[in-house]
Amino acid sequence: MIKGIIFDLDGVIVSTDDLHYLGWKMIANRENIHFDKTINHQLRGVSRMESLNILLNHSFKVYSQTEKMQLASMKNDYYVSLLGNLSQSDLLPGALELIKYLKRKNYLLAIGSSSKNASIIIDKLNIREYFNVIVDGNDISNSKPHPEVFLTAANKLGLTSAECVVIEDAVTGIDAAKAANMITYGIGSAKNYEKTDFGIDSLYDLIDTL
Ligand code: G6P
Ligand code: MG
Repeated sequence: MIKGIIFDLDGVIVSTDDLHYLGWKMIANRENIHFDKTINHQLRGVSRMESLNILLNHSFKVYSQTEKMQLASMKNDYYVSLLGNLSQSDLLPGALELIKYLKRKNYLLAIGSSSKNASIIIDKLNIREYFNVIVDGNDISNSKPHPEVFLTAANKLGLTSAECVVIEDAVTGIDAAKAANMITYGIGSAKNYEKTDFGIDSLYDLIDTL
């Protein structure tokens, strides 16, 4: 029996892609590296340092660990400044309606995100009160597709994997949830992924379904 719903954050509840894109584009321009929306798409669900490594793969220069740390922190400072304007109106369609519906149905709710900025984003969106558990990039040592983020969320909810479902927009996130033995709902780029159990067009599709 399903008792807990674990939401990915970026791409499911809020669209921060464009802001991540602007952050990485600033680094790419500075370093003279080609970077476009297609490459940005590959960074969905991937941790900050791994995202930087993907970006730097398009350069001939070899970067030291110190240089990488500086670039990642520069990107993050800019990204966090862009988050400044985020508010509840940036929630993706159906997010608030679904969250309220699930609370009425007494499901336990969790966030399972690779982002180390999840807490800032959740507060900007003013949705913290709805979640029993928040697991983010600061709580895990292995990022998606490793199942750690979802296993930790289930554990903190006091549930087994079989009692949880995951809502994800990233292929790496679906891989992580399947590795955790959880049922998956895929939205956006995860909708038609072969490992996704149920593809959905919008979060509205889950109201009266779950
Ligand atoms: C989410 C996003 C990724 C991002 C990652 C780390 O999973 O989908 O695009 O790279 O979080 O975000 P952070 O805020 O910690 O840099
Ligand atoms: Mg995502």
